[in-house]
Amino acid sequence: MYVKKINLNHYRNFENIQVELNQKLNIFIGNNAQGKTNLLESIFVSAVGKSFRFSKDDNLINWKSDTARIKIYYQRKDDQKEIDINFVKCNKKNIKVNGLSLEKNSELVGITNVVVFSPDSINIIKGTPSEKRRYLNVELSQLKPNYKYLLTKYNKILMQRNNLLKKIIEKREDKKVLPVWNEHLINYGTEIIGYRLDYLKKIMFFSEKIHDRISGGTEKLDLIYRSNLGKINDLEKKEIKNIFRDKLISNFERELIRKSTLFGPHLDDIEILINHMDSKYYSSQGQKRTAALSIVLSEVNIVHEEKDEYPILLLDDVLSELDNNRKKYLINFIEKIQTIITSTDDTDLIDLLKDKEKKIFYIKNGKIEGILE
Ligand SMILES: Nc1ncnc2c1ncn2[C@@H]1O[C@H](COP(=O)(O)OP(=O)(O)OP(=O)(O)O)[C@@H](O)[C@H]1O
Ligand SMILES: [Mg+2]
Repeated sequence: MYVKKINLNHYRNFENIQVELNQKLNIFIGNNAQGKTNLLESIFVSAVGKSFRFSKDDNLINWKSDTARIKIYYQRKDDQKEIDINFVKCNKKNIKVNGLSLEKNSELVGITNVVVFSPDSINIIKGTPSEKRRYLNVELSQLKPNYKYLLTKYNKILMQRNNLLKKIIEKREDKKVLPVWNEHLINYGTEIIGYRLDYLKKIMFFSEKIHDRISGGTEKLDLIYRSNLGKINDLEKKEIKNIFRDKLISNFERELIRKSTLFGPHLDDIEILINHMDSKYYSSQGQKRTAALSIVLSEVNIVHEEKDEYPILLLDDVLSELDNNRKKYLINFIEKIQTIITSTDDTDLIDLLKDKEKKIFYIKNGKIEGILE
């Protein structure tokens, strides 16, 4: 599947643009603050329903307007998918796929797949546990619709359980009702942990080779899921559930004082090791960036394995930060995939990509000023 055409109306700093993309490689060149990331973001929004910059929907609407529209045409052999998203300030957005409104906006996720590598991707390595969980949640929701369902359920139960703890301590509710909520939390939570462990195993499988190549054989990358339930990574679901239950029972008093659920996947973390050392504290900036790149490229392979087609790869302003070996590896890697690259400078890029079939767009102040094919 690839993006054939993008139409944007009153979206971010674009008034009205139409762009036809190349099936393989597309490069958007422009100075700072011209709209390059905004354009990439619009593709991401059409696939995931929200921004990778975690902006609210209203932020996507042009400041001078009350409405915005993103219309993106995807092509897969003879099949065309037209994703049409209409935003109205302070309202819920409306999403149509091939002319039909979705009943629930969450149905959008998984129709098309995108993978993004941006300067913020380094947060997969050095971000807070909450940023790492958010990364896992976005990726897994795209791949597994059931994961998104479980996560929504889990978050609701968590909120209700926290409210219940508050009521118990205020003596407005009896503690006898808690075990029912514990079981819901344990069941959904354990499923979520299961999906995350599987996903990290797959990333490890693909990234082993990628990272070895990218680092010239000098580095080994390991991803470890750190659950606050303890060492559960190799356990059966039944055993995880028992540990989860024991933790909730033995920490009941502490939870009451804190009025909050202290165990479960909403608090878990991923530790990333480079050559057996925690990369958050010991790796150089370049090592962290390379590790993030290996993980993102592994995602591309996971999507291919699961969906039998490659995702669309969005590379936001990252090539300039990689050394020549890494650049070359990346350029080889994207051979089979539709890739959209943004950059402030074209001299280096054009030279690197001189033999590739591509389209280059020059972008200025929310307008396409020139196209080179
Ligand atoms: N809702 C909005 N309405 C109008 N303009 C907006 C809106 N949101 C962001 N902008 C503006 O869009 C401009 C372009 O932003 P964008 O992030 O796409 O820049 P860029 O070309 O990627 O720049 P850089 O090279 O610095 O990354 C910015 O000046 C930003 O202030
Ligand atoms: Mg940008």
